[in-house]
Amino acid sequence: MDNVFRRYSLLDQMCLGVDQALRAVFNNPRTTGRDYPAAHEKDAQMTDEQRKHSAALMRINHSGEVCAQALYHGQGIVSRSSLVKEKMEQASLEEGDHLAWCILRINELGGHASYLNLLWYIGSFSIGFTAGLVGDQWSLGFLAETENQVVKHLEKHLKLLPHEDKKSQHILKQMQLDESLHRDEAMKAGASALPLPIKKLMGLVSKVMVKTAYWI
Ligand SMILES: [Fe+2]
Ligand SMILES: [Fe+2]
Repeated sequence: MDNVFRRYSLLDQMCLGVDQALRAVFNNPRTTGRDYPAAHEKDAQMTDEQRKHSAALMRINHSGEVCAQALYHGQGIVSRSSLVKEKMEQASLEEGDHLAWCILRINELGGHASYLNLLWYIGSFSIGFTAGLVGDQWSLGFLAETENQVVKHLEKHLKLLPHEDKKSQHILKQMQLDESLHRDEAMKAGASALPLPIKKLMGLVSKVMVKTAYWI
């Protein structure tokens, strides 16, 4: 796949970057166009409390996908290897699917996206950009660890969702599958294992996002 940034001037790259950011924050991401994983499932009867809880969980996952877009965008811009750039671009399109599915489900549940998504995007873009500057091996290592933590987080959310909410479960299961493939791809492409304190810090930062996005 052609990388959108490769042949452009700095100004063009900045315009493309702003376009990518706005698309992520305002729910119009570039996607692979895959089908909605919950399309075949009927919306089950749930209490107001259950719907509210499901919507809050999906809001967290939606914010996570905004962060994923930002990380991939930030890393993709400064990555040195064209192979890594292409992998970031493809994974970012799949993250775009996730983002689109999450917001669709939030709307079905009558919820709303986090009001802090612009903030999450800026923070994650900065982290991705910095990781990319350090070097491709470390950037891939950061990506692999992020995806690894997301896979575990989704496992937790699959248990926290109301049993009746099969639609959200279908979405999270497909996302979990994709995230584990992203992790494996990053490992295959030469990711370095991150030091334990960095892994712990990443876990702490994502906890802050998870706690905040449940409410706002
Ligand atoms: Fe994702
Ligand atoms: Fe991913």
